[in-house]
Amino acid sequence: MPSNIPFLDLARFPEDLKNSLLKKFSEMLNAGLFSGGKEVAAFEHKLSLYHESPFAVACANGTDALEIALRALKIGQGDEVIVPAISWVSTAEVVCLVGAKPIFIDVDQTGLIDTSKLDQAISSRTKAIIPVHLYGQMVDMPRLMKYVRGKSIKVIEDTAQAFGCHLHGRMAGTYGDIGCLSFYPSKNLGALGEAGAIISQQAEYETEIRSLINHGQLLRDEHLAIGKNARIDTLQAGFLNILFESFEAWQQKRKYLANIYWESLKDAAWLTLPPKAIDGSYNFHLYTIQTTFRNKLKDFLKNSGIQTVIHYPTPIPKMTPYNDGQTYPNAERICNEILSLPLNPWLSENEVLYICESIKKFNPNSDF
Ligand SMILES: Cc1ncc(COP(=O)(O)O)c(C=O)c1O
Repeated sequence: MPSNIPFLDLARFPEDLKNSLLKKFSEMLNAGLFSGGKEVAAFEHKLSLYHESPFAVACANGTDALEIALRALKIGQGDEVIVPAISWVSTAEVVCLVGAKPIFIDVDQTGLIDTSKLDQAISSRTKAIIPVHLYGQMVDMPRLMKYVRGKSIKVIEDTAQAFGCHLHGRMAGTYGDIGCLSFYPSKNLGALGEAGAIISQQAEYETEIRSLINHGQLLRDEHLAIGKNARIDTLQAGFLNILFESFEAWQQKRKYLANIYWESLKDAAWLTLPPKAIDGSYNFHLYTIQTTFRNKLKDFLKNSGIQTVIHYPTPIPKMTPYNDGQTYPNAERICNEILSLPLNPWLSENEVLYICESIKKFNPNSDF
C-alpha cells in the first residue's frame, strides 16, 4: 500500500530520460551557446509542425506569451478584454499589464468560459476575448469563432493547460488569432524551468511577435518598437526538444490512469467527475473532481498520505487587485468544490487505485 503520494513529483523522471537530459546539458555546455541558436530554432520548428501553424515563437513563459499576444494585436489603454472568472491569474494580469481592463464573465459547470454570457459583457471597447482551455478541457472554439465573426474582436487562446488538445482535427491554440502556450514544469509538456510559446495561423504576426519578445529589435541594435526580454533560454529549448519525444506516451499514460479514476469513482453519487476522454479535446492536464465535501475530503486524503491541490480557491474577480464587486455563481461554487487528484505519467496504477479506494472509504456525512 503506497504510504505517500505526492501531487506531482518531477524527480520521478525515469533514469533513461534523466540521462538524455544530462547528455543534452553537457552538449549545450560544450557548445557554449545559451541564448537563441539551433535548439531554439528546432523547438520552434517542432511546435509549428505539431500545430500545423505557419510559425511558432518560443518565449520565456506563458504569461509573457499572453502579454506579447495582446501587444501584437495592439490592445492597450482604454480597451476591454473579456476573460473567464476562473483561470490562473496570468490571464487577467496581462490585460492589466498592457493597460487594458479585464471584463470577467462567469464560467460554465466545468469551469470553462460561459459563451452564452458574452452578449452581456461586450461593449464598444471590447477588443479581445481570452478563452482559457482550463484543466486541459477545450472551450468550444468553433462556436466562439462563429460568435466573433464580423465583430472586430480578436481571440487569444490561453492554451497554457491544453498542450496537445484538439477538436475536429484542429489543435488548441490554432482557432483564435493567437494561441499562447506554457511549458511551466508541471504542464503536460513541461520544461526544467520556465518556458512558453506563441503560435498563430496568421503568418503576418510573426515579425511583430519576434520583435516584441526581443526588445523591439529584429536586427541587433535596431530597436523599432518597445518590446521586452521575453526570450526562451536555450537550455530550456534543448530540454524541451528531448522531452517532446515522450509527450505522446505520457498522454497515453495520463488517459489510462484517468480511466481508472473514472471506472472506480463513477458510482459515487456525491462526486462529480471530469468528462470521460472520448476525443482529443481533453488532455487530462488536471483530474478535477467536484464535491460539496471538498475540504473534508482534502483533509481525509491528506491523512491517508495523498496530496491534492485546489485549482483554484478564488475567482480572479474576487482577488484584491481585480475585485469588481460582481458575483459569479458558477465560479464561486467551483472554487469551493473543486479538487485536483494526482494525475501524471509518473504515478503508478497501484497509486491511483489506492487513491480511489481511499476516496471510496471516505464518508461524506461523518465527522472523521
Ligand atoms: C491558464 C494559464 N494561463 C497562463 C499561465 C501562465 O504560464 P506561465 O506560468 O508559463 O507564465 C498558466 C500557467 O500556470 C496557466 O495555467
